[in-house]
Amino acid sequence: MKELSLNILDIAQNSIRARATNVDIILKEDAETLTITVSDNGCGMKADFLKRVTDPFSTTRTTRKVGLGLPFFKMEAEMTGGSLDITSKSEEEHEDHGTVVTARFFKNHIDYIPLGNIIDTVCTLIHGAEEVDFLFLHEYGERSVMLSTREMREMLGDEVPLSSPEVLAWAREYLTEGYAELYR
Ligand SMILES: Nc1ncnc2c1ncn2[C@@H]1O[C@H](COP(=O)(O)OP(=O)(O)O)[C@@H](O)[C@H]1O
Ligand SMILES: [Mg+2]
Repeated sequence: MKELSLNILDIAQNSIRARATNVDIILKEDAETLTITVSDNGCGMKADFLKRVTDPFSTTRTTRKVGLGLPFFKMEAEMTGGSLDITSKSEEEHEDHGTVVTARFFKNHIDYIPLGNIIDTVCTLIHGAEEVDFLFLHEYGERSVMLSTREMREMLGDEVPLSSPEVLAWAREYLTEGYAELYR
């Protein structure tokens, strides 16, 4: 993919498809590395499936026969000298089920793909999954940008849906200002 933000969208959509009600997207960045963690409380994966999930033919989708999100994300991390790890607990076997995907990139490697439009990714997720709570946090050195839909809901009350155009415009503006500060 041309932008890591599109990989993040894909990985978070896996969480939504896994019926997660909480999805945390955490980016930790410094001058050399970017570590992306997407964690959820969805249905999880059983151990034998988990072992195969980063090869391109593992999917529980019925719309096409190959899953590509995780294998691509892994390849893109490894191309920079980084890595991808997944831990998961399936709902059949664990009360505290869910999945954690962690990818580490070396930003100064020639094959590093830029993060791209992460604000679009966050807004698309909020817009598309009204019932899901997202926590987005991007730390860059000492600074950070954070958006929590739970906090937004508390502020807005029950009347205003998160996917309303005004709320999304506000979120976009808030993140844009946050990023201007982050990379200052
Ligand atoms: N967060 C998750 N929770 C539960 N299952 C997941 C999660 N992420 C991926 N999976 C499983 O791994 C499969 C492969 O994912 P992926 O590589 O993104 O391909 P695709 O989404 O196209 O199937 C999914 O079909 C799903 O069964
Ligand atoms: Mg996917």
